[in-house]
Amino acid sequence: MTVKMTISRALSVTVFMALFACGNEDNNATSPDMSGGEGKVDMAVVGGEDMSPAEDMKVEQDQGVADAGMEDMSEDMPVDMTSPDEDMAMSDTVTYHKDVKPILNDYCMRCHAPGGQGPIDFSSPNTVQTLGEVILSQVESGEMPPPVADPDCRDYLSSEQLSMDAASKETLKKWVELGKPLGEDDGVPAMAPDSATFDNPDLELRLTEPYVPTYEDEQNPNNEYRCFALEHGQAEKFYITGMHPIIDQSAIVHHVVLAKMSRSNAPADTLTTSGQNCINDMGVLAGDGGSGGMVGAWAPGMDPIEFDGAGIEVKPDEVLILQMHYYADRAENMNLPDQSGYALKIADSVRNPIMLYPLGTHDFTIPAGDDNYTSSDNISIPLGITLWGVFPHMHVLGRSYDMKVEVSGNDQCLLEGPVYDFNNQLTYIYKDPLYIPPGSPISYSCSWDNSPNNPDQINSPPKDVGYGERTDEEMCYMFSYVSIGQRRQ
Ligand code: HEC
Repeated sequence: MTVKMTISRALSVTVFMALFACGNEDNNATSPDMSGGEGKVDMAVVGGEDMSPAEDMKVEQDQGVADAGMEDMSEDMPVDMTSPDEDMAMSDTVTYHKDVKPILNDYCMRCHAPGGQGPIDFSSPNTVQTLGEVILSQVESGEMPPPVADPDCRDYLSSEQLSMDAASKETLKKWVELGKPLGEDDGVPAMAPDSATFDNPDLELRLTEPYVPTYEDEQNPNNEYRCFALEHGQAEKFYITGMHPIIDQSAIVHHVVLAKMSRSNAPADTLTTSGQNCINDMGVLAGDGGSGGMVGAWAPGMDPIEFDGAGIEVKPDEVLILQMHYYADRAENMNLPDQSGYALKIADSVRNPIMLYPLGTHDFTIPAGDDNYTSSDNISIPLGITLWGVFPHMHVLGRSYDMKVEVSGNDQCLLEGPVYDFNNQLTYIYKDPLYIPPGSPISYSCSWDNSPNNPDQINSPPKDVGYGERTDEEMCYMFSYVSIGQRRQ
């Protein structure tokens, strides 16, 4: 059986070659058509006997080509050659079905599935087998899954699915070393576990009309940042005690930031149905001088946030600003209308009102060409506070960050991001909120890569970059969710 897969031009040459290597070069019908102007490539991937019914539905089959290509391909294909006897003898060996599929389900399928933002669909065992080495190298280099804060510093919500453990990396490595055996199909489909949502949100705020991104920004091809002001419709002040985005088009929604600001300060276009281009932060994230500021940030894989006995205040004259980051790397995703939004849990009052403390440094100039420039600062708060979580924010030159507190002479890690990924911005909500005694010095730092080798570099040649809200300027924020005093249970 031949499976036709549409993949993106954004794929690296390695992936492209690996997928191509299993096609039949003599067979024109399966050759990739690189000449098409639509930015997509049709190519054939050989499917084995163990295609699940779900895969059959997802892929376009071409039986004619299959019959022509199958025999010639069997020789080069790295298919599972183990006989049933050998399988028995190697029952504790590492196989795709037994070991690799569950790992991909946990860490990869939320993006690398049909309709997801990852360019390759990993639901076919043969695709995974063909790409085994590429998958391993992406995992070992830390490129995939996209980097997040280190849960060994302080554990946070959803860390189990966001950050891959060493044992899983070891298993992938062993599987590749063993020649990538598929093993016996246990019938469990390759798919991401349903990401949890609220059963009964109190408020669901969506774009009032579907919006089709235009991807006009020449400096950021295929990317668009759009801000929409959402009216909450509440006559009294309230507290957000839980939040989770409602993602309409998962293929193009890369990350979402939720902020609040007074309606009178909101830029006029954000109040229209088509919103406003907001590649620049517009003061939304850092607060508008009043009570405004960040409420939360989400990227795929993050579960709903729910604060236990705590919440963020929203006033009747404030609007919620939804900043959507759209990214379409495939032609067929270019015209998708999106009507995403946010589901909220709210309460009239909470035991622990949470404020968002915009901890950040403004006083820096990142020298042109420097591939690891660090700015750090520290602060002591004269009150005891409880820290509920942190949202680190830099722009495209961001490289790494960290934050710690010294309590009675001992450093405690608060947040550590060995690799910062602008496309994967998350709010790290602690599993256990941490009490910080009065006067304990909190220090934090941001590092940037302003070299020409940074793939996200905007300036060619690089220029000195200072603080600012535009994407070609930089920020260093550790937006911290704090409540005053010990947590009230
Ligand atoms: C949050 C979404 C997301 C998750 C989770 C994710 N990926 Fe990706 N992956 C992407 C995107 C998007 C790309 C396209 C390249 C890019 O934009 O970085 C990609 C590209 C790739 C590529 C192609 C790289 C190349 O050289 O072209 C491989 C291989 C890959 N991912 C493997 C994995 C594996 C293995 C996992 C799980 C361990 C994983 N990904 C988890 C989003 C994701």
